[in-house]
Order: sequence, then structure tokens, then C-alpha cells
Amino acid sequence: AGRCVVAVDGPSGSGKSTVSRRLAAGLGARYLDTGAMYRAITWAVLRSGVDLTDAAAVGKVAEEVELRIGTDPQGYAVTVDGVNVDREIRGPEVTGAVSAVAAVPAVRALLVARQRELINHAGRIVVEGRDIGAVVAPDADLKVYLTASEAARARRRSAEDAVDVAATAADLARRDRLDSTRTVDPLRQSADAVELDTTELGIDEVVDRLRGLLTERG
Ligand code: C5P
Repeated sequence: AGRCVVAVDGPSGSGKSTVSRRLAAGLGARYLDTGAMYRAITWAVLRSGVDLTDAAAVGKVAEEVELRIGTDPQGYAVTVDGVNVDREIRGPEVTGAVSAVAAVPAVRALLVARQRELINHAGRIVVEGRDIGAVVAPDADLKVYLTASEAARARRRSAEDAVDVAATAADLARRDRLDSTRTVDPLRQSADAVELDTTELGIDEVVDRLRGLLTERG
């Protein structure tokens, strides 16, 4: 089979990760979690002790570390300088700092270039993030923008992370605000993306709709 790139964008808690992984597995395609890449760089920045507001220093850390990420939808490892950071990049410290690091233009330039390489190499791949349809893969075969009510998103994330709903809701609102208002590649829906509100839909229903859209497009 030839090339096929599916771009899945949306805010956190919209169901992107679960849906993207399941869609990729069903298609026999690769899967790229670009959020994990921003999280891994954030982990390295926190470890280095540089000031998060020092864009030049943050950019330098990003350039110097060796970041590796797998693309197997059944399970992929993220390593920084050979250290597996799968667990730590989901923790509260990284989650609290990632939007600041992701707003640094040098970090985005670096990761967008890496993401394009991984996509070109994979051929068939589902890519999830915030700027995939608009910036990373503007020529994607299918662009999806997943949304869900704030309440549904907070409920899902708090169940995944085992933290209380109120704290999760506050964190989601804070990250959404930072992610949508940054100057470089803010979270936004590209004009040619199909919007899907997942508030009332189960994961399988969302995956089925996306498969249907792919079939329609041949
Ligand atoms: O998807 P996830 O919640 O893991 O993403 C973590 C953070 O990484 C987001 O809040 C956002 O700041 C950043 N991000 C981004 N661009 C992407 C993916 C993630 O800026 N393509």
C-alpha cells in the first residue's frame, strides 16, 4: 500500500491518543504521538535546570539531547539520551511545564522537522498533536479535529491520570489557553479538517467514523 497520512488534532482530553492508536492499529499503520516529543524535550529541560523562560537556553537543550520515539501503535518507547522517559513525561512536573517549552520557536522548528522525517519514513501513519494538519503535514490524506465538552475532557483525563476532576479541569483550561494563544503554530483547526465532537461518542464510534471517512476518500 502507498502513502497515507492521517492528521488528528485537538485539545487534550478530546480522545486523540486512544482514537489515533486504535485507528493506526486497525489500518496496520504507524502512529506518532507528537505530544510525547514535546513532553520528552520538557523532561530534558527540567533535568538540565535551565530557566523555562530563557528561550535560547531551552532551544539549546532541545538541540543537544538525543530524542528517540517509536511509532508502533501497540506500544512505543520514548528515550532521551538513552533514558526511557515513558512514565515521567506523563507526570505533573512535565505536564505543568510542557506548554511553555512547546511555545519556544526553536523547539517547534526542531520537532516539526523530526516529525516530517518520521512521517516520510513511515509512509502510512496516524499522527496526533495540535498543529499536524496545519503545519506538520498540510498535505495529509485526512485531517481530523476532535473536540469534546470541557466536562467530558476533564472526566476522561482525570480517569486516566487518577487525579481529581477539578484539578484536571483547571490544568486543561490552563494548557488550552497557553496552547491556543502562543504566537508560533497555536492549536487551531485547519480549514480542511473534519471536526468531530466526541462528547457523546464512544471510542469505537469515533474510530469507525474515521475509517468511513478514509474509505470515502479512497
Ligand atoms: O497531547 P499532549 O497532551 O501529550 O501534549 C502535551 C503538550 O505538548 C500540549 O499541551 C502542547 O503544549 C504541546 N504540543 C504541541 N504541539 C503538538 C503536540 C503537543 O504544542 N503537535
